[in-house]
Amino acid sequence: MPDIDTAVTLRDVHLAFGGTEVLKGIDVDVRRGEAVTIIGPSGSGKSTILRCMTGLLRPQRGSIVVGDTAVDTLQTEADLIALRKRVGFVFQQYNLFPHLTVLENLVIAPTRVIGRGRAEAEHDAHALLGKVGLAGKAGAYPGELSGGQQQRVAIARALAMRPELILFDEVTSALDPETVGEVLTVIRELVDEGLTCVLVTHEMRFAAEISDRIYFTEAGRIVEHGPPEQIFGQPVQERTRAFLRRALGAVPRLPASFNAAFAPRSPSLQPAEDSA
Ligand SMILES: Nc1ncnc2c1ncn2[C@@H]1O[C@H](COP(=O)(O)OP(=O)(O)O)[C@@H](O)[C@H]1O
Ligand SMILES: [Mg+2]
Repeated sequence: MPDIDTAVTLRDVHLAFGGTEVLKGIDVDVRRGEAVTIIGPSGSGKSTILRCMTGLLRPQRGSIVVGDTAVDTLQTEADLIALRKRVGFVFQQYNLFPHLTVLENLVIAPTRVIGRGRAEAEHDAHALLGKVGLAGKAGAYPGELSGGQQQRVAIARALAMRPELILFDEVTSALDPETVGEVLTVIRELVDEGLTCVLVTHEMRFAAEISDRIYFTEAGRIVEHGPPEQIFGQPVQERTRAFLRRALGAVPRLPASFNAAFAPRSPSLQPAEDSA
């Protein structure tokens, strides 16, 4: 019997491209209303894990359940399309339709793909634009917006399908630094409202603040997982510690809230001069 609180379950997922195994037995659990973040070096399999959750990639071994759907056993294109209507995916590249207004970008999939009425779709779209702080931009074209604004439209577009789950794959990685914060703020608010989501991000402090659980991947395996206090504050595995030293070392300053939450148990996360 599927657990009704379960949003996503991956069990022993193995996936190879050609002869190269890139997922080597992945177990992930996401419960409804949770925000789960996957961190790890480039090439470790993070995006591949997300693509498995949408049925875009089929593992050679293991099981994937999203809601009550056994994704790895879906046979028809129609079943896969039905799954993708339920799972939102926001990427680094926002890929808005450049020739459509912001409003039309939000209305097109609900009306054409799931047959929602025009008035209802527009009503939703305006509400979602308000939620992402772009109420005044309904009539603008994507090219008139900053990268951060376009990414917020892309998030609203995903929400417009009323998905049961949203996957965010490095959605701030291509943005100018000054617009990263506004996108993270939107995601934080959605998480606070109980959106179920899986994130891949290099924004470690953000991940620490908003995540219910963190998974650390390396070379196609989950090295360690647990609540952020554990992964960022008391990582068990040396490989996790080494990764975090590099990842956090790239950021010059830790906000006070992060220090308060994590520093007492975590001398290795302090700036070098403090740990002497
Ligand atoms: N379509 C593909 N064909 C062949 N190899 C791929 C493909 N997609 C990803 N890979 C390889 O799989 C590994 C994991 O990739 P990916 O999941 O994108 O890593 P991450 O998101 O952690 O950077 C990498 O070595 C990558 O080169
Ligand atoms: Mg990736």
